[in-house]
Amino acid sequence: MKALVTGVTGQLGFDVMRALSARDVEAIGATRKEMPLDDPARTKAFVTSVKPDVVFHCAAYTAVDRAEDERELCHTVNGSATGAVAEACEAIGAKLIYISTDYVFPGTGERFYETDDETAPCNVYGASKLAGERAVRKAMTSGRFFIVRTSWVFGVHGKNFIRTILGLAETRDELTVVDDQVGSPTYTADLAELLADMAASEKFGVYHATNEGICSWAALAAEAIRRRGLRTKVTPVSSDMYPTKATRPKNSRLSKASLDAAGFRRLPDWKDAVRRYLMEIENK
Ligand SMILES: NC(=O)c1ccc[n+]([C@@H]2O[C@H](COP(=O)([O-])OP(=O)(O)OC[C@H]3O[C@@H](n4cnc5c(N)ncnc54)[C@H](OP(=O)(O)O)[C@@H]3O)[C@@H](O)[C@H]2O)c1
Repeated sequence: MKALVTGVTGQLGFDVMRALSARDVEAIGATRKEMPLDDPARTKAFVTSVKPDVVFHCAAYTAVDRAEDERELCHTVNGSATGAVAEACEAIGAKLIYISTDYVFPGTGERFYETDDETAPCNVYGASKLAGERAVRKAMTSGRFFIVRTSWVFGVHGKNFIRTILGLAETRDELTVVDDQVGSPTYTADLAELLADMAASEKFGVYHATNEGICSWAALAAEAIRRRGLRTKVTPVSSDMYPTKATRPKNSRLSKASLDAAGFRRLPDWKDAVRRYLMEIENK
């Protein structure tokens, strides 16, 4: 199997490359230089020229607040370029794994979202990722695709919430963190293993994949601080106290029913994932 991985300078793409290398899968990592997603035509030509058997499309415009001001660029990168990747995959008979997000849902209520629940993003980034999902479905009439929605991503290679919180906790006695947004953290090392399993299968479809268990951002911050052996107090606050340019969903609970039905293993509990992540960054 020959794999093409996009976004290898980011958190997930980096770990997908590691997971594939550990499985002795031939993997080509694409960066912005060879595959600029703001240029969908070049993107399509690049995928076609590599002729992979599977594409792990991890690259995306991920600056959620900036996207409110860069709507067009965000939609080109996450929507149009994803369509270009999907068209190339369909033409050469490659499988596609497209990474999507909990942000495709409105984020209201308290129940777990099923994969076929109605989508209604509450910000530009979410709308662009949904446009990417739609482009995949439209281009890949063969159905040889996986749409994998994840959330609250952290990995050793890149910026994320835990890293930011630990940086702040080094110098502060107290941090205020929102506790009215609830979801599941996802360690890219764990998600990458699942994606590699998917690529080796023909169980195409739409999946939700996060570490198990749910928490608030405040609980995640408190767990990371405690595990690091720091004493910084986390004071929970409501999101009204932290206005951001882009609206955030309050409910990011994602049901794993489709993973179970397909026989894929769920990811480990989020607290265990945080423990292993901290060990990984300490050993770097
Ligand atoms: N982070 C989260 O909390 C979260 C939550 C749900 C879903 N997701 C999805 O999960 C996937 C992986 O996220 P992540 O956290 O690993 O992302 P990340 O660390 O922000 O990395 C994004 C990657 O995309 C590349 N990229 C951005 N714009 C590009 C462009 N115009 N052309 C080519 N490459 C471009 C970046 O390259 P450069 O290094 O050159 O900028 C980087 O390699 C994404 O599809 C994201 O939408 C993320």
